[in-house]
Amino acid sequence: MGVTAVIGLQWGDEGKGKIVDALSQDADIVVRCQGGANAGHTVLIDKKKHVLHLIPSGVLREDVICLIGNGVVVDLEVLDGEIEELEAAGIKTSGRLVVSRRAHVVLPIHKAAEAVHEELRGKRRLDTTRRGIGPCYSDKAARLGIRVGDVLNTSTLGVKVETACRASRELRQGGQSIDADQVLEHCERYRPMLKEMAGDPLGVLQRSLSQGKKVLLEGSQGFLLDIDHGTYPFVTSCSTGIHGLACGAGLAPSSIDEVVGVVKSYVTRVGEGPLPTMMEEPYQSAVRERGQEYGATTGRPRRCGWLDLNALRYSCGINGVSSVAVTKLDTLSELEMLQVCVAYEYFGAEVETFPADIEFLADCLPRYIDTPAWEDLKGITSVTHLPRPALAYIERIRTAAGCKVGLISVGPGRGELIALDR
Ligand code: GDP
Ligand code: IMO
Ligand code: MG
Repeated sequence: MGVTAVIGLQWGDEGKGKIVDALSQDADIVVRCQGGANAGHTVLIDKKKHVLHLIPSGVLREDVICLIGNGVVVDLEVLDGEIEELEAAGIKTSGRLVVSRRAHVVLPIHKAAEAVHEELRGKRRLDTTRRGIGPCYSDKAARLGIRVGDVLNTSTLGVKVETACRASRELRQGGQSIDADQVLEHCERYRPMLKEMAGDPLGVLQRSLSQGKKVLLEGSQGFLLDIDHGTYPFVTSCSTGIHGLACGAGLAPSSIDEVVGVVKSYVTRVGEGPLPTMMEEPYQSAVRERGQEYGATTGRPRRCGWLDLNALRYSCGINGVSSVAVTKLDTLSELEMLQVCVAYEYFGAEVETFPADIEFLADCLPRYIDTPAWEDLKGITSVTHLPRPALAYIERIRTAAGCKVGLISVGPGRGELIALDR
């Protein structure tokens, strides 16, 4: 394996957690590279549901080392709570979790700033996860951020926090009043936790790779939420594709051997922003209920749409995807009929790429083909037992993705996964 990266190819919640859990069976190290506690990655093991926000999903396999890379924005309170939850479930993190000293810390001022930004946007609000992600990445870019290493440095933390708070106050011009002492106290509360786990994932990765160990990079969000390549401004605040993973883990892009793209059998979107293939009723409600499409982080209902092959071609092309993992094939079974978007049309003309501007995208109409659904997939563990219409559906995905299909997920549980010849 060397280095394998797992990325979401749609608008997030494709089932990355489940796929990372499966692939981490053969991994020594799993790395979260970007994003923060806006992510919610679900793994279902023996009917016990684990939802991970910051800690790599590989933590559920006891011999796997977990790294939180420089590209992640770390909410210390969430991290602390997540460790506690895992320990309560009998999963030890001590000695196998390293957080980069370079990773930025999400502070209370970031959440306060996000509330003000959303308010200011009015009708054009993004409906973010309100986890302070955007303002934290903004402070990083503005060189006002507080990093994990800063929290550990008792002699300089005070002045850095004071500067960040002063700048935030000016930019927010009001809103909830948060003084520097409160922020400092917040950082100091979590200093003992960080003392235990702050380190240098770059060194760990380089040493491990030279020893022939296997590394899995766990992407968060989805490529259509990418800050550069997604449906801007309705995106998250970091690079969610392969480029962001390489940078956020601190690896050379050329060291990544395999890119596994996770594709849900339909698309979902939580929060505001375009969803060209949005389903009509009764499919919208039926798929939401069958697929339990409610946010793993915020509980918000997700909007559901038909599989969008135009968007998939775009995501696969830019990310150099080497194989896809198709998830939630079971959710579509027994529907009356299915639609698949094979292209977009702009006033009658076929659109060859994924539009750069959401205004242009709003005028694009999906060109659909109808396709039959299939019967219940319960208990199917081999591709040869998949019903013919399901195989035809997978073939469409394979052709649009331009690469092999390595995995097909037919249920949320660990065992409900079909591995194809990789
Ligand atoms: P992630 O953010 O990409 O890790 O995805 P989420 O965990 O937010 O959402 C995926 C949801 O689908 C979770 O509730 C998973 O347990 C569930 N899931 C994953 N794969 C399958 C599948 O093949 N079938 C069904 N029915 N559920 C799945
Ligand atoms: P995982 O890793 C789905 C969405 C939010 C909002 C937009 C910006 O579980 O797939 P943010 O809080 O990041 O500034 O919000 O991005 N979003 C996600 N949607 N899955 C995620 O992560 C998401 N992370 C952010 O709903 O529309
Ligand atoms: Mg999720």
